[in-house]
Amino acid sequence: MGWWSERVVPRMADKSLSSRPIMDLRREVCAGLSGRVLEIGFGSGLNLSAYPAVVDSVDAVEPSDTGWELSSGRRATASVPVDRVGLDGQRLAAADATYDAAVSTFTLCTIPDATTALAEVRRVLRPGGTLHVLEHGLAPDARVAAWQHRLDGLQGRIAAGCHLTRDAPVLVEDAGFRVERLDRAYLPGPSLSKPWTFVSLVVAVRP
Ligand SMILES: C[S@@+](CC[C@H](N)C(=O)[O-])C[C@H]1O[C@@H](n2cnc3c(N)ncnc32)[C@H](O)[C@@H]1O
Repeated sequence: MGWWSERVVPRMADKSLSSRPIMDLRREVCAGLSGRVLEIGFGSGLNLSAYPAVVDSVDAVEPSDTGWELSSGRRATASVPVDRVGLDGQRLAAADATYDAAVSTFTLCTIPDATTALAEVRRVLRPGGTLHVLEHGLAPDARVAAWQHRLDGLQGRIAAGCHLTRDAPVLVEDAGFRVERLDRAYLPGPSLSKPWTFVSLVVAVRP
């Protein structure tokens, strides 16, 4: 990882993804989590305050040491134990059917191969386990989508590989999950921000 991606982008993510509307959505997407939970792309731990009390443990997969350091205060005060179990969501060390639930928030946009990562998440979830996803991505409006395609390369260079044009609900369904909840909307903000603010909340079951 270069200096920008390793030192700056995790701090930008920590600030830009902790607004009130996003923290409200984190609470919504984490509702229903219980037992042993895997979180891929743990970042600075912004989901920790949203985990319900019935979560027993969180196994975090996070490549960025800066992101992990930024999460230290949140981990210290969390009501749930958190272990960093890996660096790459595309290759998980856990055995098949290890987890009751998995979480990915604003990670499927950035992880190089989201399809491989979702196949890995499916493998390590037990049958009946749930995947909880909060993600920005491809908007349904043609004009916004066109801007997303135009800006995608620049976004990737500025934000450590982040894409504007991925469609998280489609990726989740294509990975063999059964989508049980799907909410999609733009976050509040000016029209110009729309390429970045079309957000999907997905809860899906591993059959
Ligand atoms: C935009 S940040 C989101 C962080 C956090 N999930 C959140 O909601 O605030 C994207 C995260 O994906 C992580 N990431 C990038 N490549 C990854 C990979 N191969 N496996 C797991 N996480 C990855 C980054 O390090 C970063 O923490």
